[in-house]
Amino acid sequence: MISNIIPYGRQNITKEDIDAVIEALKSDYLTQGPKINEFESKFAQYIGCKYAVAVANGTAALHLCTLALGVTKGDKVITTPITFAASANCVKYCEGEVVFSDIDPESYLIDIESIKKKLSSSPLGTYKGLIVVDFAGRAVNLEDIKKLADEYNLWIIEDACHAPGGYFIDSNGEKQNCGNGEFADLAIFSFHPVKHIATGEGGMITTNNLELYNKLLKLRTHGITKTSSDFLNSTLLANGGLSQIKEDQEKYPSWYMEMHELGFNYRLTDFQAALGISQMDKADDGLKKRREIAEKYEKAFAGKPWIRTQSGKIEGHAYHLYIIVVERRLELYNYLKTKNIYTQVHYIPIHLMPYYRNQGWKQGDMPFAEKYYKGCLSLPMFPSLSDQEQDYVIETINNFYTKYLV
Ligand SMILES: Cc1ncc(COP(=O)(O)O)c(C=O)c1O
Repeated sequence: MISNIIPYGRQNITKEDIDAVIEALKSDYLTQGPKINEFESKFAQYIGCKYAVAVANGTAALHLCTLALGVTKGDKVITTPITFAASANCVKYCEGEVVFSDIDPESYLIDIESIKKKLSSSPLGTYKGLIVVDFAGRAVNLEDIKKLADEYNLWIIEDACHAPGGYFIDSNGEKQNCGNGEFADLAIFSFHPVKHIATGEGGMITTNNLELYNKLLKLRTHGITKTSSDFLNSTLLANGGLSQIKEDQEKYPSWYMEMHELGFNYRLTDFQAALGISQMDKADDGLKKRREIAEKYEKAFAGKPWIRTQSGKIEGHAYHLYIIVVERRLELYNYLKTKNIYTQVHYIPIHLMPYYRNQGWKQGDMPFAEKYYKGCLSLPMFPSLSDQEQDYVIETINNFYTKYLV
């Protein structure tokens, strides 16, 4: 038995990362300094999008997206029940209404047919947008989603928290990176420690839309702008204060700023950004390792009747999670724990959370999501998982079904 605990996910912090953080801590800026732009540029380049906005965490990223897209009271937005609660909650922050749509039983991603059914059975204009999730690291086919969204005049937020480096192949045979802004209006990422790139807490929004990008920059910092080209000019204020504003703009250019709307402080610090920049140097190697780990699991479990995996080798999968679906999941979970293997369940379907049940959602509403939840289990998946540890995980699972249960 391996004596150390093997978790389902873990950060990978190196000496270079620690040195980068120390350097940032010794610099003039703990926050609002040059590391933020550097991180944003490096991330945008990695993903292949035009603009990136670093924020405090993935949840803040989602909130800023719904604000920037103008979600307001009663707006209906469709999302998947198999994701982290934040993917749905961001709609509620703006007083919108979350409408869950069931998953595809093979990929566990939101099912486009189920979305179509919802859209076609309601008058045009009923829904405002779609939040799709590259769940576990498997890319949603956004080309198909975009066609549907255009038909119904919907915006798209791609929650790519699980999928930096993931991609799908479009109808021209081209790779489309998760979060590249080619199809979705906005995409978001999280830098929580179990994710591919870790900054402790942290997040990023990516987009190719300049207007949304400028809105996000303002909303990230209280709705305030210090950029003179953004200042009010011909817009008349409701209370007639324009002449005073014009005078202040001209008289006090050194410290002048304007708050245009109600924003937040959702900024990332410079030492977190420094960690993110350093972590990105390892992103490709980490992804390669995750894919190797997945391939080894696939091979080891092939033909084993007690395990269903996420449907074999999938091109472009970023493997934030490696999920199996099994019989007797609770017993397996407990057995593995006695062997120092700490697995996890992703996720309890969100529509069954008490908060959403109180809004009318109930058992039976999402049959495929609920069936998936009964058997899903996330196995250890992180770049520093050793061969020996992975062999041990595989052997212990197989032992459970062949020796322990009989
Ligand atoms: C799919 C998904 N969306 C959003 C989030 C929220 O990110 P954060 O924890 O950085 O707020 C997470 C984090 O676990 C996530 O997994």
